[in-house]
Amino acid sequence: MAHEYIKTPFINEDVHKADVLVVGVFEDGTLTKQAKAVDEGTKGFLSRALKTAEFKGKKGKFFHAVMPHGWERVIVAGLGSMDKFEPLDAQNLGGDLVAFLNGQRVKEAAVALCGNKLLVSDHDLAAEVAYGAQLRSYRFDKYRTKEPEEKKPTLKKLTIMAADKNEAGRQYERLEAVIEGVFLTRDLVSEPANIVHPDSFPAYCKELAALGVEVEVLGEKEMKKLGMNALLGVGQGSDKESKLIVMQWNGGKKNDAPVAFIGKGVCFDTGGISIKPAANMEEMKWDMAGAGVVTGLMKTLATRKAKVNVVCVAGVVENMPDGNAQRPGDVVTSMSGQTIEVINTDAEGRLVLADALWYTQDRFKPKFMVNLATLTGAIIVALADVHAGLFSNNDVLSTRLTESGIAVGEPLWRLPLGKEYDEKINCDIADVKNVGDGSGAGSITAAQFLQRFVNDVPWAHLDIAGTAWTKKDKSICPKGGTAFGVRLLDHLVEHFYEGK
Ligand code: BES
Ligand code: MN
Ligand code: ZN
Repeated sequence: MAHEYIKTPFINEDVHKADVLVVGVFEDGTLTKQAKAVDEGTKGFLSRALKTAEFKGKKGKFFHAVMPHGWERVIVAGLGSMDKFEPLDAQNLGGDLVAFLNGQRVKEAAVALCGNKLLVSDHDLAAEVAYGAQLRSYRFDKYRTKEPEEKKPTLKKLTIMAADKNEAGRQYERLEAVIEGVFLTRDLVSEPANIVHPDSFPAYCKELAALGVEVEVLGEKEMKKLGMNALLGVGQGSDKESKLIVMQWNGGKKNDAPVAFIGKGVCFDTGGISIKPAANMEEMKWDMAGAGVVTGLMKTLATRKAKVNVVCVAGVVENMPDGNAQRPGDVVTSMSGQTIEVINTDAEGRLVLADALWYTQDRFKPKFMVNLATLTGAIIVALADVHAGLFSNNDVLSTRLTESGIAVGEPLWRLPLGKEYDEKINCDIADVKNVGDGSGAGSITAAQFLQRFVNDVPWAHLDIAGTAWTKKDKSICPKGGTAFGVRLLDHLVEHFYEGK
């Protein structure tokens, strides 16, 4: 899918007089260098205007001033407190600014925020502002054929002062690879289930072959041979053929064990015979977000030629009620050999992942496995759309994931695993049942279920049911698919596993 990007050239020159100039003010009333220059050039007009409007310089707020003689429009961005301004604030500023400028119907603007003592260098600041601006400008509008011109975004170009434009450009190039991956994930998650489904999903992955990614697609016949009856049972009621998609990027040393990412790809989750209520069921088109994230992540890693061996596995199915659909009470034998009683056909994600996880550790012997899944409604009860749930059998991996989440603004919260929770999925007639015992902790019992299929490999499960989709605009993400996880896992790989 083609995206319109905002042009974001970096320049060294001090821009005093762009048609639309963006400067800043801190919470304590201090004007940034360029804001001061404007104020002096207008005999104090700007500071008087800010005072009259009681503009306090709060983060995320903007003040729009039409200026006298010679100056056109000046936009003052609230920067909060000077010694607390971090890279993530710069991203959010870029994102909020795009929304504000579009609201003001601005086509081009210049951002001049250099020369202030922040917790981010001038070139990083420039690159991060451009990054945030680009992430916010994402639109999934291909089906809006009648959108009036005056509703469409106007902003085409954001020139950014950088002090060292070459260094800013280098920083930004690195971030562009992440933008590409995030946009691919958002596209996949936003597409309806009549477009992105188990028969069409592989084609999106195969496009990554152009970047040097090896893509294999296992169909039902191949999976049957491998004994993946847990995954196959979920797709049994669908006309679409279930798939297991395996993507490999070998940027590391030969024979170096890969890192592995596994995604739940339920392209539509009706609940199956344990059918969901009609209200909001359309949201279950994004029940493939985990698979969307590993696909976008692969695009990012391959685009920036990450020095690491990576395997991404997507279990792609559709959960439908049908004459041939799996019934509550059915028992399936998974690839691991463990038998599963399917008490509730709506607890399908864990069935898909059981075989995808087993297959991944068995075939690739990875350094670690991280799976992502919109697995439980219960994680939304616990953590809303703020944190994703983190479950892990390994403290080092957990810490690295948590740190990465904080660094990119995709926070995780670790929840416990343990014997007492594990017992809740013991089953009378099979090795394990696919739901808990009704005593609560729905997200944990789901994680316990997954853990039975990972052996001793360091493993983490991210429950992204609350964070994969946003109903309201956020600073660097318009409402819709968020791609939560792409930036986090790219950071994890870069900081802890590349070139090591
Ligand atoms: N895909 C859902 C989880 C979900 C719910 C994601 C709401 C996003 C929003 C998952 O397959 C599911 O249906 N889980 C059930 C499990 C239950 C039957 C044990 C749930 O959470 O209700
Ligand atoms: Mn379900
Ligand atoms: Zn589901």
